[in-house]
Formats: sequence, C-alpha cells, structure tokens
Amino acid sequence: MTASADQDSLPEAAEPSRLLGEYQQRVEGALESALATTEAPDARLIEAMRYATLSGGKRLRPLLVYATGRTTDAPAEVLDAMAAAVEMIHVYSLIHDDLPAMDDDDLRRGKPTCHKAFDEATAILAGDALQAQAFHTLAHGVAPLPAKAGLAAVRELARAAGLHGMAGGQAIDLGACGKPIDLAELERMHRLKTGALIRVSVRLAALAGQVTQDRLEQLTRYAECIGLAFQIRDDVLDVEGDPEVLGKACGADARLDKATFPSLMGLEASRERAVALVDEALEALQPCGDEADLLRYLARYIVDRMN
Ligand code: IPE
Ligand code: IPE
Ligand code: MG
Ligand code: MG
Ligand code: MG
Repeated sequence: MTASADQDSLPEAAEPSRLLGEYQQRVEGALESALATTEAPDARLIEAMRYATLSGGKRLRPLLVYATGRTTDAPAEVLDAMAAAVEMIHVYSLIHDDLPAMDDDDLRRGKPTCHKAFDEATAILAGDALQAQAFHTLAHGVAPLPAKAGLAAVRELARAAGLHGMAGGQAIDLGACGKPIDLAELERMHRLKTGALIRVSVRLAALAGQVTQDRLEQLTRYAECIGLAFQIRDDVLDVEGDPEVLGKACGADARLDKATFPSLMGLEASRERAVALVDEALEALQPCGDEADLLRYLARYIVDRMN
C-alpha cells in the first residue's frame, strides 16, 4: 500500500481536481498491493482480477472514502484499506453485472469485459475472489481502530454488498426487466444496487474517524442522496451519453427493457430529480465546514459527469 502513517500525510487542501488525482493514485497503490501476485495458485484467475481492477474507472467510491476522511481524524492507512475494499466490491459487481446471464455487455472501461477477455467461468471466479479479497483487505486494514469500530466497518460492508445491498438490488433489477414497476420500487432498487456501496464508502471513513452520531447521520444523508443521484445519472447517460466517453455501450437498458428513471419519468424529470438530490446532499453537509468541500465538489460532479 502507498499508505503513510497518519492523517497529516494526506494532502493539504488544494484545488479539488489535483487532490482527487492524488487520491486516485493512492487507491491505485492500495489496489496494486491488495492484488500483488507472488504466490497466486492460479495465474489466470489473478490475471483476470487484475485486468478488471487495475483498468481505469473513476474510482468514485474510493474518492468518497478519502473525501470523507478529510472531515475526520481517520488514520490514512485505514482509509487506504477501506478505499481498496470498496473498489474491489464495486469491480466484482461490474464483472458479474456484465455477464451474459445479467446485462450481457461486451465493453467496460473502454476494454472488453472480463468474460470477453477471459471466459465466463474465470470472470465469475474473479468476482468471487475480489469480494473475498475486499474483506481480507478491510479486516487487516482496520487493525489500528478500536475493535468495535473495526468490526462495525466489516459488518457494514457485508450488508452493503449483500442481500440488503448491492446483490439484493441487482436481483430486483433483473426481476424488473420488461415489467412495469412504480417509482417507489425503482428508487428502492437504485438505493440498493448502487446507493448501498456509495453510502458505505462514506460511512466506513466516518467510522474510521470515529465521528459523533450527529455527524454520522449528516454524512449518511449526504451519501444516500448522491448514491441515488449517481444511478439516475447513469441511467440518463445510458440514453444520451457518448459510448466513446463512457467506455461502455449506450442503450443497454432499453435493449433489456430495464426499469430506469428515464423510462419511468422521462429524461428531463430524471435530470431534475438528480439535481434536487444533489441540493439535498449539500444541505445535509451544511453543519460541516471547509473540510467537507471535497465532498461538496464530488456531489456536483455526480450530476455533471459525462462518464
Ligand atoms: C458503474 O459504476 C455502475 C454503476 C453502479 C452505475 P461507475 O460509473 O462508478 O463505473 P467505473 O468504476 O467508473 O467504471
Ligand atoms: C449496475 O447498474 C449496478 C451494479 C451493481 C454494477 P448498471 O447495470 O446500470 O451499470 P452499468 O450501466 O452496466 O455500468
Ligand atoms: Mg445492471
Ligand atoms: Mg449493466
Ligand atoms: Mg447503467
């Protein structure tokens, strides 16, 4: 890991894009070390894990870990482990999301999807192994925290990834293909399949910083709002984005008759809803000072992004 020992070693406040670049580099180092390959029992499996993970991506969830970390006294090396862990769960979810049995996509992050570059069985196993590696990295990484906070972090990530989080939301998504669902159910699906991992990225860093209950609730509200806004933007980009910029196909949702915000309420209302959610996220951060500016920047980025 590229970690150094304490929060003081994290970059000082500066213009957001430079800071985000530095945090991106930190998580690349943390991921590289989590997937270092000296004794892999199967070369093809680790190759597939590395292919899917060390392949670009916006690293939004790790950036949220670091940006939240700036509002707390969280130790830097704990944030590095958390950042790597949430990204590995995310990459696993993408590998499986792209499989023929799910969204059946050929392009991800501008490259052939994992099952195209390798094969389906290897892609399934790469996802499985990344999920386990995420918990391994997190369980090691929380060692400097009080045991109660460390265990809470592991428990929260498990919930966010599983039945009551990403996997549960993906199941609703697949079950809703070609079927009408109402707005409440669509929101629930988005909050689970995408929101849960974004929410836990913020909450893990808050746990590492041992924030007050009030602050945890403010940060959680922020995260829930941007998590939903993020998937709404993803749905909008699937309709009107540029595949070259996105690094993945557009029109995938329409092809599979997915339930999405644009299909239910139209593009304009979807955009407005995303903007309103970002306003709500910014309002949740009102009690925080300048230290939350990077979180504010990321909230705005989520609705403006083109990829
Ligand atoms: C795509 O996530 C899948 C969703 C949950 C919407 P990202 O848009 O964060 O994908 P990468 O990590 O940047 O490739
Ligand atoms: C994916 O949603 C959510 C995940 C849990 C991976 P999408 O299926 O819309 O994500 P993309 O558009 O393929 O990246
Ligand atoms: Mg999907
Ligand atoms: Mg998909
Ligand atoms: Mg999508």
